[in-house]
Amino acid sequence: MYQLLNVDGRAKRAEVSTVHGKIQTPVFMNVGTAGAIKGAVSSQDLKEIKCQVELSNTYHLHVRPGDDVIKKMGGLHKFMVWDRPILTDSGGFQVFSLSGLRKIKEEGVHFSSHVDGRKIFMGPEESMQIQSNIASTIAMAFDECPPYPATRQYMQDSVDRTTRWLKRCQVEMKRLNGLEDTINKEQMLFGINQGGTYGDIRIEHAKVISELDLDGYAIGGLAVGESHDEMYRILEEVVPHLPQNKPTYLMGVGTPINILESVERGIDFFDCVYPARNGRHGHVYTNAGKLNLLNAKFQLDGRPIDEACQCPTCRQYSRAYIRHLLKAKEMLGMRLCVLHNLYFYNTLMEEIRDAIDANRYSAFKEEKIEKMLAG
Ligand code: GUN
Ligand code: ZN
Repeated sequence: MYQLLNVDGRAKRAEVSTVHGKIQTPVFMNVGTAGAIKGAVSSQDLKEIKCQVELSNTYHLHVRPGDDVIKKMGGLHKFMVWDRPILTDSGGFQVFSLSGLRKIKEEGVHFSSHVDGRKIFMGPEESMQIQSNIASTIAMAFDECPPYPATRQYMQDSVDRTTRWLKRCQVEMKRLNGLEDTINKEQMLFGINQGGTYGDIRIEHAKVISELDLDGYAIGGLAVGESHDEMYRILEEVVPHLPQNKPTYLMGVGTPINILESVERGIDFFDCVYPARNGRHGHVYTNAGKLNLLNAKFQLDGRPIDEACQCPTCRQYSRAYIRHLLKAKEMLGMRLCVLHNLYFYNTLMEEIRDAIDANRYSAFKEEKIEKMLAG
């Protein structure tokens, strides 16, 4: 259930109720692809760094350890000891970005595993069955994330197939939620809008999927090589054609500035590997821009990463110590950076929510971006 609390321009402030508790939006989902946030971050850490929603991938968990194993262990929540919402991506995107040879057919996609080369088939029904076994809070529809650039003809055919797949996902999800031994019988389903940078194809697709009364709507196929301005233009065109009283999720985006700009265009769910990936490389976010802690100038710097940050890292450790850990390839170095970066993103979302509550989102966004660029 989506309760709209305030609207400021196109920016939305809402509360989403799920069987695993409420989500305050706009929200950033913390990416734990294979059931763990990379950088040795535990489920308990996630609570300390204000994570509301954890995101995992159907494809990865199906390949290893197998969704049958996860189901036998009581579902992903029990398995990873996390009681808040989990969103699973459908495998659509990962099949296209990770696996080797693949063949797209009407029934689904044939591909080989990136772990052992084993041949796998995944279609809408298989993706829903795997996500039902994982028992995530929110399942994503099985889609094709088309390459960029793609011809208009390729895009139209792909989007039409994604629509047919979405309808099959919805039927299968309904069936699975009604089965006796399904772990989460209230699993939610989000559809995914596609169409690349073809505004008219996107809008037509948005209208068609809006009719299906899904639990939420994602915008996929962006941040795949097009410019930021093109991405913002697509959001301006498409978001008005998606239901305002449902979650709107921009998949795989992005930098703090991308998020600030997208919230202003009506997006309220985000996910991205940047904070964890950058943290593992010693690249950390501050309100005055990004720092590379491997830089020699931090050798004797006794300050925390960000003076204003209250994260578990900044409350105790200096830039100099973390730099030493990274140089010495101690795992703790990565871990401290990842904790800080995720806390930074989760706190940014908190500030975004406060600004929308106070009807001062536009001014807040401008100030925030100006400071980040000045650093
Ligand atoms: N993650 C980022 N982009 C996409 C997309 O287009 N589809 C899916 N399923 N996941 C994504
Ligand atoms: Zn910090």
